[in-house]
Amino acid sequence: MPGPLDVFRPDALAGHVALVTGGGTGICRGIAAAYARFGADVCIVSRKQDVLDATAKEIAAATGRTPLGFAADVRDPDAIGKAIAATRTHFGKLDTIVNGAAGNFLSPAAALSPNGFRTVIDIDLNGTFNTCRGAFEALQQSGNGFILNISATLHYHGTPLQIHASAAKAGVDAVTKNLAVEWGRFGIRVCGIAPGPIGDTEGMRRLAPGDLGPKITAQIPAGRFGAVDEIAAAAVYLRSAAAAYVTGHILVVDGGHCVATPPLGGSSL
Ligand code: COA
Repeated sequence: MPGPLDVFRPDALAGHVALVTGGGTGICRGIAAAYARFGADVCIVSRKQDVLDATAKEIAAATGRTPLGFAADVRDPDAIGKAIAATRTHFGKLDTIVNGAAGNFLSPAAALSPNGFRTVIDIDLNGTFNTCRGAFEALQQSGNGFILNISATLHYHGTPLQIHASAAKAGVDAVTKNLAVEWGRFGIRVCGIAPGPIGDTEGMRRLAPGDLGPKITAQIPAGRFGAVDEIAAAAVYLRSAAAAYVTGHILVVDGGHCVATPPLGGSSL
């Protein structure tokens, strides 16, 4: 059986130039690699240059396209502006943004400091806005702009220990819908992906420590965690011509987790 990415033609994203925040690791590393595999030029952005360099080398070896790695904190609009400018200079244009940079940890609301709450809002939500806002001119100029915001399903219900990330991701989904409405007239589509539990990521190592993994698996109708390539496949589809009439939509990719009735006592967290 073909893998999730094997169903696309090799030039599905040819001619596109994407900037992927959080692209050094995890889900967004997988999206960046998939975009490169299908012909897009990619700039990956995160805080650590050494992580970006290692990832860029691996993506280049796997795909034959060398990503630009640009260290910037999405909380800093000037820094993200420089990453956008560097991408445009390096590749000649910019038509796609993937907002995946995120921070998270488990904390009871009553123990969370205001700065802890603010920090996650600042990375996930303000970082998403900063990047969208900074890229607006380039996306408009491209005539075929696309923004993909990575959120979550945490805020579909109350999720214990996740008030900060839930609030941030609810905001990210609002940004997706709002910009789809405001920027459609500029030729910019804006979509989201809400991943469920995805295996082998920093997020899951932080959020499902110890024996929580099997407990979460038991609540997923698909009976397993998702794979990074399954999120990447959704990201390729949404950027591709196949989704040209799709905007303002947040695609849940979670093996049915969020539509299953949670056990008494709430969600797995
Ligand atoms: N529990 C409770 N509060 C926490 C915390 C935890 N595990 N980790 C950080 N915080 C609080 C800090 O105490 C601090 O608040 P304070 O000043 O009132 O003490 C605030 O969050 C900021 O922490 P700091 O470490 O200074 O922020 P940072 O910008 O260096 O790091 C984080 C950002 C907090 C998100 C950090 O966890 C991080 O960098 N994570 C890496 C990326 C990541 O989370 N990936 C997973 C994606 S799902």
